[in-house]
Amino acid sequence: MSETTQREAPLSTTAERQAVTSQAGATPSRDWVIVTRGIKREYDMGGEIVRALRGVDVAIRRNEYVAIMGPSGSGKSTLMNIVGCLDTPTAGEYWLNGTLVSSMKDDELARIRNKEIGFVFQTFNLLPRATALHNVELPLVYAGMSARQRKETAAYALERVQLTSRMYHKPNELSGGQRQRVAIARALVNNPSILLADEPTGNLDSATSSEIMKVFEELADQGQTVIMVTHEADIAAHARRVVALHDGQVSSDTRREHFVAQNSTAIEAKQ
Ligand SMILES: Nc1ncnc2c1ncn2[C@@H]1O[C@H](COP(=O)(O)OP(=O)(O)OP(=O)(O)O)[C@@H](O)[C@H]1O
Ligand SMILES: [Mg+2]
Repeated sequence: MSETTQREAPLSTTAERQAVTSQAGATPSRDWVIVTRGIKREYDMGGEIVRALRGVDVAIRRNEYVAIMGPSGSGKSTLMNIVGCLDTPTAGEYWLNGTLVSSMKDDELARIRNKEIGFVFQTFNLLPRATALHNVELPLVYAGMSARQRKETAAYALERVQLTSRMYHKPNELSGGQRQRVAIARALVNNPSILLADEPTGNLDSATSSEIMKVFEELADQGQTVIMVTHEADIAAHARRVVALHDGQVSSDTRREHFVAQNSTAIEAKQ
């Protein structure tokens, strides 16, 4: 691939191209849960500038299941942090659900993050002394829900990841895959518009990884938007679209039409 084609950051469809290339400041239509336009993230390391993202254009629709791939240092986590409202870009626009979040202040960003984003990490990040149920309930405590409602909502989230029978277990009484399922339930409990997972199978063996991929696939089939960072091709193959990063730019953007067709049939069937 020539240098020029790499820089073109190919997009899957014309609609996506339009969403990212329309006039700066133009609100994307409701179809798009995420639109980034020319996102840059630079770090000033005492005079030396590290260019972690060098102009990323991505448009992601509601209900998409996308894997972000790329070699170490290509900017995957930097992009996830921006998409997850943990960080803001140095330049460019980030639109989340039709709201321009790239220029928001920290407190506004935190409010949007709590409402819109569910995070799943490689290291699960569960409270060791709390039961699965209590771990999943935690985000609802901050949301100010009554104890009874909290318990019901958390129990339902655990049911969605097939962990009802382990509700009262603490993390050290669960397998790695079960811990990650608790973390997924916790990420889902607030009904976020995006489930963001950074290397969710990085600490799991291959059999357990497949089990976790099945959970993501089921959630995607139910209409949950899922964005997953991975550097493993066989994990990315579970997603319906793969966006590859290289040196802080999108180097390819591939949709698996087969899965998209299957998925839209499933969605139509539900309606
Ligand atoms: N806080 C920071 N300060 C300075 N440079 C940073 C910072 N965070 C990331 N970088 C640099 O930005 C580039 C992209 O880093 P990033 O963590 O996004 O890569 P990645 O694709 O997630 O890699 P990996 O697969 O190893 O997790 C790297 O060159 C990294 O050194
Ligand atoms: Mg990373």
